[in-house]
Parts: sequence; structure tokens; C-alpha cells
Amino acid sequence: MLPYQTLLPLQRGASPGLPQQIAAGLIDLIRRGVLPFGARFPGARQLAGQLGVNRQTVGLAYEELQAQGWLVQRPRTAPVVCAQLPEVPGQPLPVAAGQFPARAAFQFTKTAAAPAGQLPAQSTLVLDGGSPDARLVPHALLARNYRLASRGAARRPHLLGYAAPNGVRRLREQLARYLHDTRGVPATADHVFVTRGSTMAFFLLAQLLVQAGDTVVVAARSYAEADAIFQSRGARLARVAVDEHGLVLDELEVLCRRQPVRLLYVTPHHHYPTTVTLSAARRVRLLALAEQYDFIVLEDDYDFDYHYAEAPILPLASADRRGRVIYTGSLSKVLAPAYRIGYVVAPAEVLAALAPIRVLVDQLGDPLLETAVAELLADGTLHNHLARSRQQYQHRRDVFCAALQARLAPWFTFVPPAGGLAVWGRFAAGVDLPKLAQRCQELGLLISDGRAYQLPTEPQPSHLRLGFAVLTPAELERSVRILETALRALH
Ligand SMILES: Cc1ncc(COP(=O)(O)O)c(C=O)c1O
Repeated sequence: MLPYQTLLPLQRGASPGLPQQIAAGLIDLIRRGVLPFGARFPGARQLAGQLGVNRQTVGLAYEELQAQGWLVQRPRTAPVVCAQLPEVPGQPLPVAAGQFPARAAFQFTKTAAAPAGQLPAQSTLVLDGGSPDARLVPHALLARNYRLASRGAARRPHLLGYAAPNGVRRLREQLARYLHDTRGVPATADHVFVTRGSTMAFFLLAQLLVQAGDTVVVAARSYAEADAIFQSRGARLARVAVDEHGLVLDELEVLCRRQPVRLLYVTPHHHYPTTVTLSAARRVRLLALAEQYDFIVLEDDYDFDYHYAEAPILPLASADRRGRVIYTGSLSKVLAPAYRIGYVVAPAEVLAALAPIRVLVDQLGDPLLETAVAELLADGTLHNHLARSRQQYQHRRDVFCAALQARLAPWFTFVPPAGGLAVWGRFAAGVDLPKLAQRCQELGLLISDGRAYQLPTEPQPSHLRLGFAVLTPAELERSVRILETALRALH
């Protein structure tokens, strides 16, 4: 006889009562195939003995099973599982197609942001907007740290309760040290607020700082998710051109003279998507304009860790002594986007005001992961990882740029980027980017169709951001060959 005392755990005094609990437990055993069709149910007396209930209780359970069609009782034999079961025997119940409503019964407004694409098949090559190569992440060390954090929490379970919404202190300390040592941001743990990626940082900051009707300035081409977040607050977006030195500040100043500007969103290290660096002279002027016209500078430093040739220009936040600049960053390009670790660096009073907003959407972050990542920073693993990745990515950039130049020269023009994880370039007139993307996909390469980067003044998409870090040199060569083949097929 099966160990029914283990298979049918009962809760005495609970509702529904014991007969119903026994019946439900036996149905579950039938569904899982533990009691196959035609199998005998245990005799009522033995089952009652094993479960420590009286025989009538089991009798009532069997009556319930019989009524529902699960049990057949023939004279003078033990009851058996019915051959004509109400549900499929031995398998979890399949959900019949079309049972779940395909549409909602109510109206709603969709947000402007495009949903993230599906994960590509493993065999597909991807030249995306600039992701890191997750194959390089020190997974084993991160997993070890996570395990240690998890064990620690087992001894101090309060660590797994609701905690401060600004992130684990150890990570905030380590991030402050890293931001100070790598880029001169003079922050302490009290000036760091950990978020799930910088996207959440933009969202929380927009809730706090942007009201309907406010003017938010962004670059002519900018980060679509940030645009959508500001627009979702009812902000009016004003756009400023970008040239080879970054944001065109004369345009910004004209705008500021015409109307109050609440906030400027800027990616100075490498403008997204064009990869241009905001020049040192313009940085000084930008901070002066922010003072003069009283706007907030939201500095998105999403890829500061990747510069290949020269020392980078330090962030605006490293020069700001007036509390004008709010700095955001992310480990999405350092580890991988799925880890969802981002941060805001700002005066403590701003961070204190973010906390109650974060509680409304997420209560708190992921203390175990944050602890595990803090230890990667503390013991130097993350710095070593970055040094290695930087070397690899520089090599990949060179291989990629050489291949693009050799194979796509008539169709694609670009300036090799000084840093970052992607190349920005323009396709010649006549190249139909959506068709090119389609053809590449058929050949096993995913690229954008360029619409995300298209200006309203451009009749069709012509520019593309091609991330090179995520692929090995051999994969990059293959990708460029596919691009060449697709272009030749279309022209
Ligand atoms: C301009 C820009 N900012 C921020 C991010 C990072 O977003 P998150 O930290 O939410 O992953 C990205 C990621 O691609 C980006 O391109």
C-alpha cells in the first residue's frame, strides 16, 4: 500500500473538512498518475488506519469520489479508479485552447514605449543596440556570493523581510567607492539609491520631478524609453540637435530663453544612440546654463566603463557642487541586463523623496542579489571582469569596424566609436532598412529595422546602431558577411 499518510497530508479542524481533503488528495494522485486508471483504492479501513481518521470519514471521501465520477464501486470488490475518468488520467490537466479570454472586457490606453522583443533563438546572431557579452560574466563567483548571502539570510531571516527601498547598504557603499575611484563622483553610500536598472531610476525621478506640462529637453535622437517615461508624466519634450561635439548648446540656450525648462536628459559620455562624446568645453557651458536657467540635469551614464583609446572625460556629476546634476548608472552593460541593478546618485533629500515612490511600485530591490554583487565589487572581481571585458570589446570593435569597412563600404558609413559597445552609422540612400532587417533575419542575423532611430524629418529609416560587444570576433565576421549578402541580394 502506498504511504498515504505522506501522500495525503491533512489539516485537522480546517475547512473544507477531512472527507473533502481526502477526496481532493486522491484526485490529485490520479491526475499525477500515482493512482493509474483501473487501480484499486485502498480499503477504507486500512486507509483510515494510515491517516488516523475514522472509517466513516474515508467512506464519505469515497462517496464524494464516486459522485464526481472518479471511483467505481462494484459489489464485494475494492473500489477502483474509474476507466472513464472525468479528466485525462495520469497527466496534469491540459488547459483547453481558447478557454482563457483572448481580449479584455474593458478599454485601456497603451503606452508609447515599444515592448522588448522576444529572446532570439540561441543559434541566431544579434547585432543589438549595445549589450555586453553575458558569456563573460563571472557567473560562478556571483552564484557563490548569492549562495553565501542566502545562507546568511537563513540564519538572520529578518534580512528577507521588507527592507529599505534604497538598496542594501553594503552595495551602496561599494557603488559609492567604485563611482569615486573610477570617475571622481564624490558620493557616499547616503547619496546612492539602488534601483532595478536605470529605467526604474528614470521612472522614479520622473514621478518626483516632472509634472504635466513641464518641458523636458532631450536630444533630437534620444533613448526612446526615457522619452516615453517623461511623456507618460505629461511632459512636453523639446529636442535639441547633436553634432560631433555632442548636444548643440546654442539651440538649448535659445530654447531656455523661450520657455522654462524643468529637466534636461543627457548621455554625455556616449550620446545614445550616436555614440558622440560631449566635449569638455560644452560640459562646462552646460552646467553654467543649468544654473542660469534653473533646470535639472539628468545624466544617464549607461556605459562609462567602456572607453578604449584615451582617458574618459569625467561625468558632469563629478564637477557638480551645486546639487544640479542627478546621476544614473547601471550594471546592465557591466554584467547583464537581466540582473537589473541600476542606481541614482543625488543629494540625500532627493533620494529620501524617491523612497516612498519606489515603495509604491516595488517595495524594495533584491537584497540577496545586491549583497552578492556588493561582494563582487568589494573583492575586486568586478574590476577584473571589467578590465578583461574592456580588452575583449576593444578587440571586437576593431574586428567589427574593419569588417564593416571592408565589406559594407559603399552602403554603410560610420566613425569608429572611441568607446561604448556599439557602432552608429548611416546607410546610403536607397537601402531599405526594414527589408534589409527582414532579409538578415532569414539568414540568421537580427538587426533593428532602424525605425527606432528615425527622425520625424526623415522619410525613411537610414541610421542603425550595431552592438559589437555581444559577439565574438568570428561571430562578428559572420554577421558582417550576412549583412553583405543581404545588401547584395537587395541591390
Ligand atoms: C541610453 C541607455 N540608458 C540606460 C540603459 C540601461 O537600462 P537599464 O539599466 O534599465 O537596463 C540603456 C540600455 O540599453 C541605454 O541604452
